[in-house]
Amino acid sequence: MVGILFLLFPRALHGWYEPRLEDTCGRSGNHRDSSATGLGIRDDNRSELEKPFTDPGMWQCSICTHENDTSNLSCELCGVLRDLSLYFNNISEAEAGAKRRNKYSGVSVLARSLFASSSTKSKAIIFSDGSQDNRNATGNKQATMDALHKTYMPSKKRHINIVVQIKDSVDATGKKMMDSGILQTEKDTSMDPCTSAEVDKLGGTSSSVPSSNQQVTPILDHELQHLSLESKPKSSKPKIKKPASISEYKPEPWMLQSEDQEMRRQLNLAIVGHVDSGKSTLCGRLLHALGLISKKQMHKYEKEAKEKGKGSFAYAWAMDDSTDERERGITMTVAVKYFDTEKYHVVLLDSPGHKDFVPNMISGATQADAAILVVDASVGSFEAGMGVSGIGQTKEHSQLIRSFGVENLIVAVNKMDMVEHSKDRFNFVKLQLGIFLRSCGFKDSSITWVPLSAMANENLVTAASDSRLLSWYNGNCLLESIDSLPPPHRDVSRPLRLPICDVIASITLGQVAVCGKVEAGGIRTGSKVLVMPSGDLATVKTIERDSSSCNLARAGDNIAVGLQGVDPGHLVSGGVICHPDFPVHVASRLELKILVLEITTPILVGLQFELHIHHARVSASLVKILSLLDQKTGKASKKMPRLLTARQAAVVDVKLDKEVCVEEFSALKALGRAFLRSGGNTVAVGIVTRILDEAKV
Ligand code: GTP
Ligand code: MG
Repeated sequence: MVGILFLLFPRALHGWYEPRLEDTCGRSGNHRDSSATGLGIRDDNRSELEKPFTDPGMWQCSICTHENDTSNLSCELCGVLRDLSLYFNNISEAEAGAKRRNKYSGVSVLARSLFASSSTKSKAIIFSDGSQDNRNATGNKQATMDALHKTYMPSKKRHINIVVQIKDSVDATGKKMMDSGILQTEKDTSMDPCTSAEVDKLGGTSSSVPSSNQQVTPILDHELQHLSLESKPKSSKPKIKKPASISEYKPEPWMLQSEDQEMRRQLNLAIVGHVDSGKSTLCGRLLHALGLISKKQMHKYEKEAKEKGKGSFAYAWAMDDSTDERERGITMTVAVKYFDTEKYHVVLLDSPGHKDFVPNMISGATQADAAILVVDASVGSFEAGMGVSGIGQTKEHSQLIRSFGVENLIVAVNKMDMVEHSKDRFNFVKLQLGIFLRSCGFKDSSITWVPLSAMANENLVTAASDSRLLSWYNGNCLLESIDSLPPPHRDVSRPLRLPICDVIASITLGQVAVCGKVEAGGIRTGSKVLVMPSGDLATVKTIERDSSSCNLARAGDNIAVGLQGVDPGHLVSGGVICHPDFPVHVASRLELKILVLEITTPILVGLQFELHIHHARVSASLVKILSLLDQKTGKASKKMPRLLTARQAAVVDVKLDKEVCVEEFSALKALGRAFLRSGGNTVAVGIVTRILDEAKV
C-alpha cells in the first residue's frame, strides 16, 4: 500500500505527508489532535509566531517545518501564516486590507461573463480525468472519480470513492472488474478509446478484451473492428448519421412531464473548503443529528478514532472511510451520502480540502447544484484558507465552484466555538470572504452565511443554543438554509448530454454501465444513444437513480445507465452519451476566453498545462494568446500579447493532446467550461468560445 501511495502521491511520503507531520501540516494547527480533547482542540496549541528561524534568510513553518523564503508571508507548502501581525492588528485594519484587495481583485466584465448566471441555468459540470497520464505537475498521479457508480451496488449504504488507478503504461481496457456480484470500478484514464477491442453492434454483450498500444487489437467482430483506434486509419471511424441541427431538436413529451409529485427533488450539494476547515466533521455531524448514523455506529467511530489518537475525527470518519484517510486525518476522495430535507433529496458530496487533491475536489464538486463552503473561523486558520500568498483553498474552491456554474452558496462559518461565538469574528470573516466571493461572481443575495460549530452540533439542524451565539444570531440553521436553496433547473430543452464520470462493467449482469449527471435532455430505457467520442450506438437497458431502477431520467439527475451493444472499451470517463441524432462536438483545438487567477509566474505562449472540461482531463499547450481583454469593457485591448499575468483576461488558442467531447459555452455551459491547471494549481478558468478544429467522428 505504501508503495502504491508512493507512486500515486510521491509527496505523500516525502514532504507534506511526512509520517509525523500528517496530523498537523497545512491545517488549522489547533484542531488536529493526537489525543482527543473535547471539541477537537489540540493540546499543543502552538503559536505560529514563535518559531525560531533556522537560516537568517529563511523562516521555518511552525506547522510543517518547511523552510520558506523570507518573502513568503505564509508557508508555501501548507499555507500557514508566518506572522499574523504582519497582516492585521485589528479588525479595522483587516477591513482596510480587504478593501484594498477588492480594488485589485479582478472583478471584471469578463469575470462576470465567465461566471454569469445563465438564462437557461445549465447546471454544474462534471470533471474527472480522462487522460492516460494523469500526473500533475507535482508528479502526483491524479486520483479519479467514480462517483455514483455505487448506485449499482446492491447495498443501500453507499460511499462513493475516487478510485486511484495505477497505470504506469498505457494498458488495456483496464477498467472493469466484477467480484461475485459486487461491482467495482477502476476508471479508464484514457479519453482515447484506443484501448477497445471489439463491439457487438447487434446488441450482444461485449466482453472486454485487454489490449495495448503495442499490440494488434484482437479481431473479435469483423464488422466493427474498424472501431479500434489502435492501428486505424482516420477514415475508419464509425459512421454517424449526419448530425441534425440543434434547432431541429424537440424534447419528447415524457421529458417535459412534471416530476413525480411524491418524489423530492434531487439536490447535489458539494461541501468544499480549505483543508481541515471541518467539512467531513460537518457532514458526519449532520447525518448523525438527522438520525442517519446509528448510536452503535457512532460509538464504534468514537472508539476507533480514540484508539488511533484521533478522537476529534470521530464524525469525520463517517465520511472518510479509507484507512489512509483515517490515518492521515484528511479527506482524499469525494465521499457521497444522502439525506432528505423537507424539499430535497440531498446528495452530499464531501470534497477533500488539501491542495494536492484539488482534481478530486473538481470531480466531485462539478456535480453540484449548490455548495456549502466551510470556513474555519479560528484565528490564523481562516487567514490560511484565504491564502495570503495565493494558495488558500477557501479561495481556490470558491473560484472553482463558481466557474462550475454553482450560483447558490452557503458559507458555513465553522468552529465558532474556537472564537467564543464572537460576532466580531463572524463579521470579519463575512466581510473579507464576502468581497472575494463577489469578485468570483457570486451575488450577495445568493450567499447565505451561517455561523456554526460542527463539532458542538451548534446551529446545524436546530436553532443555535449557545447563549453567546443566540445573543446576536437568529437566522436559519444549516438545515433550514439548505432547504431554502432554490431548486436546480433542469435543461430538457436540449438534446441528451450525459458526460461519463465513470464506467462499470458487470460480468454477471452482462452489461456495461456508465455513471454521471444528465446535463441536458432526457434518457429512457429501450432507447438508442450515441457513445462519444467512439460513435457507437448503444441501447439503454437499465437506468438507476439513487439505487432504485427507473425508466427515465432527465437533466439534473445523477444516474447509472446500463448499456448494451457497445464495447466497454469505448466507454471512457470524459466521453459523453448523446442523443443519436445530435452528437456532441469532438475537438482538439479550442479557442478559450480565460481569466487568469492569482498566479506568481506569468503564463507564456507554449505553456503546457492540464485542461479540464467536464470529466475530461487532457494535456494541452497554449498555442497563441490572441488578445488581451479589457477588464472593464470586455473588449480586446491588445493583440497577441506575449504573456499573461495574474487577473488578466484573454482570448487564447489551445491545442489538446487528445480530442475531447466539448460544446461551445454559448450552446451548453456545462460542457463549455474549462480549467487550466499547472504546477498543481488552477491557473485560469475559462469558457470555450470556439471549436477550432472539429474532428470528423
Ligand atoms: P479535509 O477533508 O482534510 O480537508 O478536512 P476537513 O475539512 O474535512 O476537516 P475535518 O472534518 O477532518 O476536521 C478537521 C479537524 O477540525 C478535526 O480535528 C475536527 O475535530 C476539527 N473540527 C471540525 N469542526 C470543528 C468545530 O466546530 N470546532 C472545533 N473546535 N473543531 C472542529
Ligand atoms: Mg474531510
